[in-house]
Amino acid sequence: MTEQLGLNSSASEDLLQRGYNRRDVGRIAAIFGTGALVASAGQPAWAAAPAKPANKLLLDSNECWIGPMPAGIAAASAILARCNRYEPGNERDDFIRAVMKADEVGHDWVSPWPGSSDPLSRSVVSFASPTRGIVTADPTFELAWDTAEWLGVPVRKVPLTADYRHDVKAMVAADPAAGLFYVCSPNNPTGTLTPLEDIAWLVKNKPAGAKVLVDEAYIHFSGTPSAATLLAQSEDVIVLRTFSKLFGMAGMRMGYALTHPANIAKMQRYDGDVLSGSLPLPSLVCATASLKQAALIAQRRREMQLNLAFVTAEVRRRGFQVLPSTANMFMVDWGGKPAKAMREAFRKQGVEIGRSWAIWPDRSRITVSSRAEMLAFLRALDRVRAG
Ligand SMILES: Cc1ncc(COP(=O)(O)O)c(C=O)c1O
Repeated sequence: MTEQLGLNSSASEDLLQRGYNRRDVGRIAAIFGTGALVASAGQPAWAAAPAKPANKLLLDSNECWIGPMPAGIAAASAILARCNRYEPGNERDDFIRAVMKADEVGHDWVSPWPGSSDPLSRSVVSFASPTRGIVTADPTFELAWDTAEWLGVPVRKVPLTADYRHDVKAMVAADPAAGLFYVCSPNNPTGTLTPLEDIAWLVKNKPAGAKVLVDEAYIHFSGTPSAATLLAQSEDVIVLRTFSKLFGMAGMRMGYALTHPANIAKMQRYDGDVLSGSLPLPSLVCATASLKQAALIAQRRREMQLNLAFVTAEVRRRGFQVLPSTANMFMVDWGGKPAKAMREAFRKQGVEIGRSWAIWPDRSRITVSSRAEMLAFLRALDRVRAG
């Protein structure tokens, strides 16, 4: 009966027992792409982004200014001719072994995904529910809270501290029944870090059974220690990584989760291991080869850091406040001008800047790109100021 909701029966029974209603189960099926029966019921707001204009300077999505690494392109190109097979070699296992080496974790603690958006939404479904909410910072990357709100899961949004860390004490106090704490470090949109000691404190002091999801989409840019070191201390830590940022592979859709095998099993039960188990081979091998490029990772980090220092100094020199950042984005405060109006003004100059957050309506997020694109951004800023 519950299979008609678009998920296998044990997954739907589990969701119903945890307080989701039948309509939610249908929506969850739609999130995971298995819900053909229910997909026509509507899209979540985050799935309905407008098409991007062509010929624009795109500084809105925190993508990398340059494409995949040459070793990754070579590996992806080489395997294309063998893509008549599902898995001609051990491509998925080779990827997991590269992650094991990079992150010093066991084989069963790695699950690959097509990007990190899916495991992020999936964590909300797997570990939160209408009776166990989520707690996030504000501002932060909204996918966890959007997914939760769409499913009727309670969301507590806790403002960042004055120095832009996650306020872990206030987060624990915000919901004693929470099922999931979302920590984004470096945070999107501020690019600021939450120290590992704060995250460790959260893991120690959170409600029993709740999970702490640490989203490290931007960590390669900051070069700081990963929360993966906390995995050995607690079964309740999940670390998410993506190849969409420093690795320049946003369109190839690769990412992974690091967590206790029991959590991986819970996250995979909605579709067996179909999505995690059948990733496109060019993306898999490109990611495997890229993970091994330590020198190039450091070089891209240095280049981004130089361009971040350059562009933020120039924006400050023009009289705007800029928040400190360690990642390929920064928040600029327009000094009383609404960020939405500034975005429109930049659009007229052929530049797509990032969005703003309701809690900070006068601040916009700008992606750090190549030196040439940062110079073009500054020229557009000067035209907007003059206009
Ligand atoms: C903090 C953060 N997490 C996750 C994602 C999802 O990215 P992807 O699905 O490409 O890995 C993004 C995308 O911008 C992000 O900023």
